[in-house]
Amino acid sequence: MNDPLPPLLRALNGESLPPPPVWLMRQAGRYLPEYREVRASVGGFLDLCHSPDKATEVTLQPIRRYGFDAAILFSDILVVPDALGQKVTFAEGEGPRLDPLRKSEDLAVLSKVGFQDKVRTVWRTVESLRQTLDPSVALIGFAGSPWTVATYMVEGRGSKDYISVKKMAYGDPGLFQQIIDILVDASFDYLLGQIDHGAQVLQLFDSWAGVLPETEFERWVIAPTKILVSRLKAARPGIKIIGFPKGAGVLAEAYALETGVDGISLDASQSLSWAVKTLSPRFTLQGNLDPILLVTGGAAMERAVDHILETTKGVPFIFNLGHGIVPETPPENVKKLMERVRR
Ligand code: CP3
Repeated sequence: MNDPLPPLLRALNGESLPPPPVWLMRQAGRYLPEYREVRASVGGFLDLCHSPDKATEVTLQPIRRYGFDAAILFSDILVVPDALGQKVTFAEGEGPRLDPLRKSEDLAVLSKVGFQDKVRTVWRTVESLRQTLDPSVALIGFAGSPWTVATYMVEGRGSKDYISVKKMAYGDPGLFQQIIDILVDASFDYLLGQIDHGAQVLQLFDSWAGVLPETEFERWVIAPTKILVSRLKAARPGIKIIGFPKGAGVLAEAYALETGVDGISLDASQSLSWAVKTLSPRFTLQGNLDPILLVTGGAAMERAVDHILETTKGVPFIFNLGHGIVPETPPENVKKLMERVRR
């Protein structure tokens, strides 16, 4: 007998489901004591991403606790530059550190040789997850979008003003294009492997899409994403793809129309009623509760949840946050959120 389609896939096929399917960005992570326990049992954070048993376990922890409609592979967007040969470390409490790429010679560290062997552990996690998960729970694979991963590769760390990466993108676009092309190519292989090991949906995280002016957004966010999406869809026609151009504002419309994604994840600052009018029902909407409302909890959170459900009534929709869960989030607030969404 065929298993019925998981609600997340039905929503991405254009169905409006009351209540909507729900999952949360960064649903696995430091806000959960059981995550911190597994995290303490490995050395570096990337070791956790490359341990299929442990990565499977931390992916499943929030599914067991809350019964989300989707599990998102536990890994990180910086697995790709690491597998390409750039040095990536996660200093405790400080975020990622990379040996920055600033000039042409620096790109010599990047190589596709050994890339597949390096990311194979992540594909094994995907495979073990699909074997373990109930068929009603969709499995989401992911990668960072080329622009966002490139910001870390050029800046060498998280940034406030993006001076180094913008200087390269605006001042030496030929060099920056080389980095973007390498990332499109590597991300394609990485995501194709995730699909072939059991991922049913892919999310492309473009966390820093919102820092670029319109013409540069077209060139560095939309254009590479469009190539990546079209190559993935040509290779595996059934695959569903959600784009998350965080901070894009009204440029989310051009992003949706031009890239070929199936769903658009909205950040908390975006107007849901605008998105319903502009993007529904052609694109499935996802979002967009402010993650800090999940820290706050109580009536403020419940009002915001009700507003989101009210605004998206009748359109294809996936409930999520506008960005990832923060470590300060009380786990019981996530339970209350789930009860409110499914009430
Ligand atoms: O549950 C899930 O959502 C799946 C796992 C996941 C992680 N990172 C785990 C993680 C996903 C989907 C990501 C994506 C990611 N990683 C993004 C895009 C989404 C976003 O948040 O904007 C970005 C920009 C990164 C890069 C990254 N990884 C940063 C900046 C940091 C440090 C800051 C932080 O939040 O800790 C990480 C580390 C990281 N990635 C942790 C986790 C659980 C915490 C590290 C730890 O446990 O020590």
